[in-house]
Amino acid sequence: MPAPRVVRTVKALRNALTPWRKNKRIALVPTMGALHAGHISLVRLARRRADRVVVSIFVNPAQFAPHEDFSRYPRTWKEDLAKLSAEKVDLVFAPGVEDIYPQDFATKVSLEGPALGLETDFRPHFFAGVATVVAKLLIECMPDIAIFGEKDYQQLQVVKRMAADLDLPVKIVGAPIVREKDGLALSSRNVYLSPAERAAAPTLHRVLAEVAASIRKGAPIGPTLDRGRATIKSAGFKLDYLEARHATTLEPVTSGKDGPIRLLVAARIGATRLIDNLAV
Ligand code: PAJ
Repeated sequence: MPAPRVVRTVKALRNALTPWRKNKRIALVPTMGALHAGHISLVRLARRRADRVVVSIFVNPAQFAPHEDFSRYPRTWKEDLAKLSAEKVDLVFAPGVEDIYPQDFATKVSLEGPALGLETDFRPHFFAGVATVVAKLLIECMPDIAIFGEKDYQQLQVVKRMAADLDLPVKIVGAPIVREKDGLALSSRNVYLSPAERAAAPTLHRVLAEVAASIRKGAPIGPTLDRGRATIKSAGFKLDYLEARHATTLEPVTSGKDGPIRLLVAARIGATRLIDNLAV
C-alpha cells in the first residue's frame, strides 16, 4: 500500500493543493491523530463527497488547559499513517506546533452563540482553541468541504456557526457517531479506561437513549433529565452535565415544541472525561 504524501508546512500544503484546485473537489478531515473507526468513517464520507481527501493530524495545544492531557494525549503516528494508506488518503498535513503557532502568534477566534455553556462551563478555554485552529486549517487548505463528527456535537455547531459568520467558502459536513457494539462512542480517550471503567462507560449512551425515548413519548423534560442524571451518578460517574438543547443553536429547551432537540452529556469516570449526545 503506497503511503499517502505527508506535508509538514503550510507552504508545502498549498503547493500540493494548487494543481488540484483547477478541477478537483477537495475535502479536509481535521483530526488530532490516534485514529480509530470514528475518524475513518469521516475519511470514507470525504472520499464519497470529494475527489481528493486531505487529513490533518495536529494535537492542538491551544485546546488543552494546563491540567489537561496534552502531553499524554495518545500519539500513534505509524498506525495512523497505515490506516490512512489503507483508505487511499491523498495527502496528510501534519504540521509542527511552531508551524501553526509561531513565536509571535497573538490571535484568537472569539465565540458566542452555540459556544456558550455545556463544554464551555467546564473547559472555558476549549472552543477558542478549537475554533482558532480550525479557522487556520480551513484557510490553509481552502477545501470545498470539511467533515466533522457529531461525536463532538457542540464543536460541530460552533464550527458551522464560525464558518457561516466568517464567510469561509467551505461546506461544513457533519458525520454520524460511530459506536462500539455496547453503545460507547468511539474516542481516542477510551484507551485510558480501566476494565471496570470500560464496563460502566456505555451507561452514558444507554441513559441518552432512555431519556430520548421518554421525551419522544411526551414525558416532561426536566424530571426526565433528573432521572437520567441520577442513573449516571449511580454508575460511578462524576457528572458535568446532561442537558436537552436546541439542535443547532444549543439554547435550552423546556418542551418538545422548542425542538429539534439534542441531548448532550459529559461525565468523568476515574481520570477520564467522556462526552456523548443523541437526537431526540
Ligand atoms: P479528534 O478528537 O481527533 O476528532 C477528529 C474528528 O473525528 C472530529 O470531527 C470528531 O468529532 C470525529 N470523531 C471522533 N470520534 C468519533 C466517533 N466515534 N464517531 C464519529 N466521529 C468521531 O475533534 C478534534 O479532534 C479536534 O477538536 C479538531 C477538530 C481536530 C481541532 O483540533
